[in-house]
Amino acid sequence: MERTFAIIKPDAVERNIIGGILVKIESAGFTVVGLKRIRLTKEQAMGFYYVHKDRPFYDELCSYMARGPIVALVLEKDNAIADWRALMGATNPADAIEGTIRKEFGLSLGENSVHGSDSAESAAYEIPYFFNALELV
Ligand code: RTP
Ligand code: MG
Repeated sequence: MERTFAIIKPDAVERNIIGGILVKIESAGFTVVGLKRIRLTKEQAMGFYYVHKDRPFYDELCSYMARGPIVALVLEKDNAIADWRALMGATNPADAIEGTIRKEFGLSLGENSVHGSDSAESAAYEIPYFFNALELV
């Protein structure tokens, strides 16, 4: 079994589609082992997306991630990291294939509804950024 980290981003929480996204996650065979609704400060968003600190979209991305509540998730499954990236779909919803979450729910390149760890190293940084061991069951 593998664990990955996921976020339901502000654009999706604002539109009351948390449930629709969770149905897709559970239907695809993931077990939700951690779940919390929280609101990040911009500084906390900057720490989370630190790998992007030199990218031109970093400031806009962090402001967006702090503009409203998010739902942070830890998902467990065989091959969870790659399988969650596949279920999310391409970063730009316009490029995402049918059946993916970003195709169905994403609004734009910036407001693409969900996040997922892109590697085991990312998951190892991101999971404990949001959850302690007692919160993963
Ligand atoms: P994520 O980290 O959120 O799962 O998304 P990702 O791996 O598919 O894409 P990544 O390259 O890591 O970019 C992180 C997030 O930054 C926003 N973005 N904006 N304006 C832009 O050019 C641009 N490019 C990326 C997106 O919200 C993307 O998910
Ligand atoms: Mg990424």
